[in-house]
Amino acid sequence: MTTQPRILVARRIFPEVVQRLAQHFEVQANDADLAWTPAELAAQLADKDGALTTGSQRIDAALLAACPRLKIVANMAVGYNNFDLPAMTAAGVLGSNTPDVLTETTADFGFALLMATARRMTESEHFLRAGLWQSWSYDMFAGAEVHGSTLGILGMGRIGQGIARRGAHGFGMRVIYHNRSRLAPELEAQCGAQYVSKDELLAQADHLMLVLPYSAQSHHAIGAAELARMKPSATLVNIARGGIVDDAALAQALRQRRIAAAGLDVFEGEPAVHPELLQVPNVVLTPHIASATLPTRLAMANLAADNLIAFFEQGRALTPVHAPTLQK
Ligand code: DGY
Repeated sequence: MTTQPRILVARRIFPEVVQRLAQHFEVQANDADLAWTPAELAAQLADKDGALTTGSQRIDAALLAACPRLKIVANMAVGYNNFDLPAMTAAGVLGSNTPDVLTETTADFGFALLMATARRMTESEHFLRAGLWQSWSYDMFAGAEVHGSTLGILGMGRIGQGIARRGAHGFGMRVIYHNRSRLAPELEAQCGAQYVSKDELLAQADHLMLVLPYSAQSHHAIGAAELARMKPSATLVNIARGGIVDDAALAQALRQRRIAAAGLDVFEGEPAVHPELLQVPNVVLTPHIASATLPTRLAMANLAADNLIAFFEQGRALTPVHAPTLQK
């Protein structure tokens, strides 16, 4: 009798996706959505062949050493900085992610956060809710123009391109970007975007959007020195990952009005938020929800499940994040 691969679903996800997995695998699901410690996660995974994770479960050498049967970890996220890829490669464990299915939804959110930040929406709402609105004034909560301004994008993958298209074609913005590699000319034309150096990006952007993956190289890509190069009237939006921005330096820059405002969906050490960011008024804060619409989250869960099914049944994950030859 052949036994089915054993799969751990590490967080509570759509029941229909768990049911689909159960047609292929012996599934253990964290239906109670318990926040496991790394040691508890390792214990849960010790007898599993595969896992469906979200970005909050760290897969590193210590965990892999405790999970000898593990062959694949399918992240329900496009980002995979929770994976220690060299350790997974060494252990012969494949990682996969969920690209494409969240691109447009996440780009929508990036644009929404830019608009809310530039036009001071949450700051003015707090003022109204506090009963402070007594009269009209010509400069009350005057914000920054979005249409016709210069949008800078740091990181020009699929989501960056989606934001560029919205800015260039929807809002008549001049779009400039910086990325490890320059886009092909046809793609630059489609996005209406012009490649510049990082220094030019910092100096010229009225609104700077961060959409680059987190890595040791991008850690604190925006710190005190970079913030000092930005326009005092500029807004900064981070929908990428905490740690790309030095949150302490940003809080200080916002308090001293060295930049005008920030919109943050991701934080260093989240779900904790730097206490000073909670105090400054000129920041819009959201709890890592850029891809959070139910259709998109369902598509992400289904793609993560498809990766597990394809891996165990056809020997190939659909969207692996490192060399497919690693597959055991
Ligand atoms: C992603 O997909 O990487 C989002 O940040 C959700 O974790």
